[in-house]
Amino acid sequence: MTVLITAGPTREPIDPVRYISNRSSGKMGYAIAAAALDAGHDVILISGPVNLEPPRGAKIISVSTSEEMFEAVQRYADESNICVLCAAVADYKPAQVSPIKIKKRAGGLSLELLPTRDILESLGRQRGRKFLLVGFAAETDHLEANAAKKLRQKNCDVIVANDVHIGMETDENELLILFRDGERKKISRAPKQILARELIKIFLNSQQKRLTKKMR
Ligand code: CTP
Repeated sequence: MTVLITAGPTREPIDPVRYISNRSSGKMGYAIAAAALDAGHDVILISGPVNLEPPRGAKIISVSTSEEMFEAVQRYADESNICVLCAAVADYKPAQVSPIKIKKRAGGLSLELLPTRDILESLGRQRGRKFLLVGFAAETDHLEANAAKKLRQKNCDVIVANDVHIGMETDENELLILFRDGERKKISRAPKQILARELIKIFLNSQQKRLTKKMR
């Protein structure tokens, strides 16, 4: 199978030296890519800027902005059997990008922000899609309720939810997995490599179930 994975943060430029981003390390996405490769699958890893060694054998597409990530995902999604959108895509970008460095002035500075395109939602809206669509939900509160809402709103098959207090920038995580049919699974705290192996098994199983259902 071919597994497409997005990982890491995006950067939304303000001017040539500044940007808006977030604290995502990309570790979970890279661990999922490595686990998929270990299990013998082809991997397309669409990665924002991270400080990680790319897993050997993956097709790596390096991007910076949410727009670049959006374009790369659109390009490769249809040739994938499983799309795992693990990246922490910025939700907003500056309305204008200054071509020259913004100079310091007396007083405050306001930035106008516009929403970025939602990559997961755009794949969820794709009619007759053949791939399994997996989203992530990083939450600080009401984990299950927020994750269930994202599953519905973005029309995914699976949502992997985690509490950012545990998983952000660390080597471990604890996961709650929600499925479209209402099933739920918990994986207790473990290194991201171990979680990634479990996730790959779960995704393959879900995609196989989906295909058998479609054939009936
Ligand atoms: N996502 C995406 N494109 C965006 C924003 C988010 O593809 N522009 C995807 C993420 O990769 C993740 C899922 O949507 O799989 C949920 O991301 P998250 O940041 O938790 O949720 P948001 O939809 O941004 O909602 P909020 O920030 O309000 O929690």
